[in-house]
Amino acid sequence: MPMKLPFFKSKKEEIPIQTEELTNVPEHVAIIMDGNGRWAKQKGLPRIAGHKAGMDVVKDTVETAVKHNIKILTLFAFSTENWKRPKHEVEYLLRLPKEFLHIYLPDLIKNNVRIETIGDFDSLPGYTKEAVQYAKEKTKDNDGLLLNFALNYGSRKEILRAIKSMMEDMDNEEFSLEQVDEKLLSKYLYTHNVSDPDLLIRTSGEQRLSNFLLWQLAYTEFWFTDVLWPDFTEEVFVKALMDYQNRSRRYGGI
Ligand code: IPE
Ligand code: IPE
Ligand code: MG
Repeated sequence: MPMKLPFFKSKKEEIPIQTEELTNVPEHVAIIMDGNGRWAKQKGLPRIAGHKAGMDVVKDTVETAVKHNIKILTLFAFSTENWKRPKHEVEYLLRLPKEFLHIYLPDLIKNNVRIETIGDFDSLPGYTKEAVQYAKEKTKDNDGLLLNFALNYGSRKEILRAIKSMMEDMDNEEFSLEQVDEKLLSKYLYTHNVSDPDLLIRTSGEQRLSNFLLWQLAYTEFWFTDVLWPDFTEEVFVKALMDYQNRSRRYGGI
């Protein structure tokens, strides 16, 4: 019996979407969760109200990912460039992981989700680090969805850090220059233990990478939507997954 998903409300009619239609589910989905500020502004609310609403959408998105058997979900939560924002907004954003985990960690554990991060973890405030470290520890043996938060993440810094560390190891004669190849560099990235994303989603209508996973997205399929992150629903997510079904990934071949 094919499992039927709930009927989604669309403007025209209610269309049942069946999971059996999703024969080619991306293993790794990365999302640039954008548009919280604009969402709040449209409602006459302070920007942080958008971030709060966005946090609850993260929970729903994780559940959708689990339901559709996605193996890795990487979410861009805070960039190395986001420090430029007003101090109170930065602080609010960096307190959100603790708030999120306080509310949702038990559910994530129940769902067999493993939590990891990529980015400059050490430079995060103590309250963020402690909460996230605790969650990583608590979920480290789970073998369901890998929920990977990009926290204080910037791709150029990641690549630079990898090169420096690689050069150090080369100085220590761990390998020779001839042995330096793509595979080796990949091992020095924050993403060393995960496959490259198959699908990248960015919400809010912006069509740029904003310094996200520049190396890893070389052959990823992109999907953009005008929907603002706090309005991102299972229906929108499934639309992206359906669209992915029809992509022909040639990797330069024919
Ligand atoms: C995404 O929403 C959240 C983060 C970047 C942390 P924004 O805060 O960027 O919202 P907009 O783009 O200003 O609407
Ligand atoms: C990218 O969104 C970062 C995150 C979603 C965490 P931004 O809103 O910071 O990116 P720009 O400034 O529009 O490029
Ligand atoms: Mg933005």
